[in-house]
Amino acid sequence: MEITPGPAPVCLADFATLARTVLPPHVWDYLDGGSGAEVTLSANRRALDRVGVLPRVLTGVTTPRLRTRLLGREYAMPVGVAPMAYQRLVHPDGEPALAAAARAAEVPYLASILGSTPIEQVTATGADVWFQLYWLRDRSLVADLLARVRAAGCRALVVTVDVPVLGRRLRDLRNTFRLPPELVPANLPGGRDDLAHGGTPGVTPLSTPHDSPFAPALSWADLRWLGERCDLPLVVKGILDPADAVRAVEAGAQAVVVSNHGGRQLDGVPASATMLPEVVTAVGDRCEVLLDSGIRGGVDVLRALAMGAYGVLVGRPMLWALAVGGQPAASTALALLADELRDALALAGCADPVAARALRTVPVD
Ligand code: FNR
Ligand code: LAC
Repeated sequence: MEITPGPAPVCLADFATLARTVLPPHVWDYLDGGSGAEVTLSANRRALDRVGVLPRVLTGVTTPRLRTRLLGREYAMPVGVAPMAYQRLVHPDGEPALAAAARAAEVPYLASILGSTPIEQVTATGADVWFQLYWLRDRSLVADLLARVRAAGCRALVVTVDVPVLGRRLRDLRNTFRLPPELVPANLPGGRDDLAHGGTPGVTPLSTPHDSPFAPALSWADLRWLGERCDLPLVVKGILDPADAVRAVEAGAQAVVVSNHGGRQLDGVPASATMLPEVVTAVGDRCEVLLDSGIRGGVDVLRALAMGAYGVLVGRPMLWALAVGGQPAASTALALLADELRDALALAGCADPVAARALRTVPVD
């Protein structure tokens, strides 16, 4: 699939406009939508827009360096591709295409346990892959999956903790959205595609937790169990309360992702950008803090850094680009993000992302 003829995208939002024209409306709704009245979904953007970054002047910086360390590894910029399920839904090349774009951009690719491509084919792209886990009821299945993830060469384990059950996605319910039968959760034990189609209107096995292999009753003890059995860096994704961030550190997390799942889980929770500063204060230098939910450009990355984040994850914009033009378009999106971040750092007088973490922020109304 080629990028639709017309003006070339100059920012990530341009990919949304194009994606909306190429995707079936119910697929667009699945990826674009949030839960409930989508209060949190829109709050994510509003909160970021209210973060005013105070630039420093006459710092002598010409071309900022974007290179960053996350979890002890070096990346080209403080940005990762957020874990997102079933990427073949938006483009036949699916996960390997986004992973290849991440590889070319030298950023981490977070592979969802609900990927539509086996994890081995994702790591085969050469990308730096962090594997995202939803807890399975059967611990032996978790142990098997960990061994598989380890053998495939994944670099980190990301446990998503904000999906005890799936949020109520009203657009999907209205559309009676279902996955096409050819899409299977390729990493689930035995490719249990029956579990992916749960029988009720919904999207994933998570929507029918009682029939699915997922365990809503994940507890801190389970997280510690995992941390003790897995020698990969542990990342806990889906934290909003600073007290939970501290508990995650105590349970062995090397990073937390301050996230409300892009407004797709509990509607009415605060924007992740609203909670970021408190989380940063609570954990201090005991773990790395990443932010996602609403990041749409380089200025947003700067905002997150200025509030103390080590980096960000980008979700929907990567699916927009994938939908529009597969790997080349995803590469264009990541290149745009890098250009925007370089400009934003230069305009703020920062030589690198570390310098940006010393910037002050004030509310913009
Ligand atoms: C997600 N997200 C997600 N998170 C996760 O941990 N595992 C998953 O399988 C998925 N699947 C998924 C599918 C789709 C279509 C979307 C849009 C999102 C959440 C994702 O990782 C991230 O937290 C948000 O998407 C970030 O918000 P933005 O950047 O999309 O606003
Ligand atoms: C979603 C789940 C799969 O947000 O994480 O759709």
